Amino acid sequence: MKKKFVGVLTAGGDSPGLNAAIRGLGKAALQRYDMQLIGFLDGYRGLMQNRTVRLDGQQLSGILTIGGTILGTSREKPTRMIVGGKQLDMTEAMVDTYHRHHLDVLVCLGGGGTQKSALHLKNAGLNVITLPKTIDNDVAMTDVTFGFDTALGIATEAIDRLHSTAHSHHRIVVVEVMGHNAGWLTLGAGVAGGADVILLPEMPYDIGKTAAAILQRSRGGKHFSIVALSEGAMTKKYYEKYAKLKDAKANAGSKKEKKEVSRELAELEELHRDHTFWMSRTLEEMTGLESRVTILGYLQRGGAPSAADRLLATRLGTTCATYIAEERYGVMVAARGDGVAAVPLEEVAGKRKTVPVDHHWIDSARSVGTCLGD
Ligand code: F6P
Repeated sequence: MKKKFVGVLTAGGDSPGLNAAIRGLGKAALQRYDMQLIGFLDGYRGLMQNRTVRLDGQQLSGILTIGGTILGTSREKPTRMIVGGKQLDMTEAMVDTYHRHHLDVLVCLGGGGTQKSALHLKNAGLNVITLPKTIDNDVAMTDVTFGFDTALGIATEAIDRLHSTAHSHHRIVVVEVMGHNAGWLTLGAGVAGGADVILLPEMPYDIGKTAAAILQRSRGGKHFSIVALSEGAMTKKYYEKYAKLKDAKANAGSKKEKKEVSRELAELEELHRDHTFWMSRTLEEMTGLESRVTILGYLQRGGAPSAADRLLATRLGTTCATYIAEERYGVMVAARGDGVAAVPLEEVAGKRKTVPVDHHWIDSARSVGTCLGD
């Protein structure tokens, strides 16, 4: 059988487990299937610019435990690349690079945006396979994404540590957790760390009810509270305005109308940037208790992957090599139970897996008395 040439790139926000996945894919491709591998640097931008690195045994060695991605990453999309100060569709340049290297397939490791771009390249005629990575765990059609478990461990440990200082000072601590518009990380870490309040993007909250829950704890003798706040969480009031504007944008008749609604939307989103500090201030006013903010930020994305993420990334990476050998293209290698599944990119791209409001983690949180702000 003809030797296969494989291109690899990592796109979107970095996440622990990317190197483990590159290694799993690369070692299986090289050693088991005698394929040849090149990496493109900095996501789809490197593919456009034909910036490559050869992935041989030496490059793939010693990277299993290292955080980030040896290939570098960027958030740019093929159809919206900034070139010479202009936003351009650079799909053709990427297709050119693919053919210049006589690739049989391009493997794209990434989250929701990466899956969408991969489908776009598939539609442009390339053979593409993807792997699901992100600390947000919001990629559709996979049980879990690699990066999530590591971030969950970091956020949980942070909540554990915040407990002792909140307790000693009789304070509220509002801890902001990443996750974009999905609450998996906040919910998981909130339940695992025993947060007293958990606020998710999927469940717009009532600030009055949140303050009441904290006061009730205080009256019961617990003069501290941990509020796990998802970066995408919103008050009910804010959500109503936001949903209305989103609707108006989708239904805007003229260009002018659309521009005006977009401006209003941007203004509202700007207000939300201060959300965590606003919440802390407001809870202080409403409860009379002192409050502090901790933003976990990029700590959740950095450093070595957990054992579970190394296992998952290796499982998906090595299976990807097998799919290439079998020429099963146009799919995402998804985690399904203890095994894997090949999911057509059309079923993944453009979808986001958010937390269902009847999820059993939510039920468990309620059962142990956690306030969900509703
Ligand atoms: O998608 C991962 C993530 O860390 C989100 O949780 C967060 O909203 C976003 O990336 C931050 O993006 P950036 O790295 O572009 O600041």
